Amino acid sequence: MTIEPAVKARRDAAAGQGSVIRSVIAGVGAYLPERQVTNHELAKTIDTSDEWIVERTGIRVRHVAAEGEFTSHLAVKASERALAAAGIGAGAIDLIVLATTTPDETFPATATRVQERLGLTRGVAFDVQAVCSGFIFALAVADNFLRLGQAETALVIGAETFSRILDWQDRSTCVLFGDGAGAVVLRAGQGKGTPADRGILTTRLHSDGRQHDLLYATGGVSSTKTAGVVRMDGRKVFKHAVEKLAGVVDESLASAGLTSADIDWVVPHQANRRIIDGVGKKLGLPPERVVVTVDHHANTSAASVPLALAEATADGRIKRNDVVVMEAMGGGFTWGAAVARM
Ligand code: UT7
Repeated sequence: MTIEPAVKARRDAAAGQGSVIRSVIAGVGAYLPERQVTNHELAKTIDTSDEWIVERTGIRVRHVAAEGEFTSHLAVKASERALAAAGIGAGAIDLIVLATTTPDETFPATATRVQERLGLTRGVAFDVQAVCSGFIFALAVADNFLRLGQAETALVIGAETFSRILDWQDRSTCVLFGDGAGAVVLRAGQGKGTPADRGILTTRLHSDGRQHDLLYATGGVSSTKTAGVVRMDGRKVFKHAVEKLAGVVDESLASAGLTSADIDWVVPHQANRRIIDGVGKKLGLPPERVVVTVDHHANTSAASVPLALAEATADGRIKRNDVVVMEAMGGGFTWGAAVARM
C-alpha cells in the first residue's frame, strides 16, 4: 500500500517536532440482533437452568442473529453508529480491520463486504482471526498502521455470529455465547509520547498454540470442509484466563508508564462474571471501575470488548481523557490488552 502524501507529511511533521502519532478513539458504536434468548428458554431444550447459568457465569440473556442476518450486517450497523459518534462520513476511512471467527464466507474477507456496504471505493479492508481476543488484535494492527503513517482514519470492528458454530446440544458451551458487533473509529492525532496523550497508549499481544485442545472448533475448511462447532474445557480455560489476563494488564500498564491506580475503567472480554471479578481482584481494582455486560450480552467473542466500550461510552460512564484498559483472551490461546486515553 502506498502512503498518501498528506499522511506522510503528517508523520514527518510529527517526527520533526519531537511528537508522536497517536490513534485517537474518535467514536464507538455497537449493534445487537433483535432476538433475545433467555436462560429459561434454553432450559426448555437442554438440561440446564437459569440458576446454574447465572451462578456459574453471570449470563441471563444473549442476542441471537436472525436467519439471513450475517456477521457483515451486524458489523455495518455498528460501524455506521461509530462513524456517527465520531461525526465523520464513511469516505474518510482508509483502513478497515474486522475481527471475526464467524465470517460471512470463507472468502473474501467480511471486511470487504463492510467496505462495499459503507460505499467505500478506496483504502484497505481485511479480517483478523484471534477468536475472543480478535478485537484487541485488530486494534493493535490498526494502531500500528496509523502510527507508521500508512493510514489516517481506521474502522476497527469486532463482529460475530457465534450462534452459528455452537453445538446446541452441548450445555457446557451453548449457554455461554451470543451474537453482536462493536466498532471504533480511530483517527491519527499527535501526542508528546507521554501517558497524558489522548489515544492508544500501548497494545500487548500474546499467543500460545500449545493450548489448542482446550478451546477450538471441531472443523475447518481445510480439514473437514465444514466450520465445525465449539468445544471447550471450561474449567482449564478459566484458570488460564484469570492468570493470563491479570498478567497482560500489568504488562500493558508498565508499557504505558501507568499503574493500576491510573485506570479509570477496565473494559474486559465478557466471558464469565467470575473471570472478570477474579482479574479485578488480582489487580486490586474496585468493581465499580469494571464495565460488565456479560449478563445481557453473554460471550460475543471478538465483539464483546467493543460492545462493552460502546455501552459505557454511550451511557456517559467513560468520558474524554479517561484511561481505559481493554483486555481479552480466547482460543489459540490468544490474549492481549490495550491501554487508551479516551
Ligand atoms: O471466551 C473464551 C474464553 N472462555 C472462557 O473464558 C470460559 C471459561 N470457563 C468458564 O467460564 C467456566 O468454566 C464454565 C462456565 C464454562 C463452566 O463453569 P465451571 O464452574 O467451571 O463448571 P464445570 O465445567 O466444572 O462443570 C460443573 C458441573 C458439571 O457437572 P458434574 O460433572 O460436576 O456433575 C457439568 O456437567 O456443571 C455441569 N454443567 C452444567 N449444568 C447445568 C456444565 N454446563 C452446564 C449447564 N447447565 N449449562
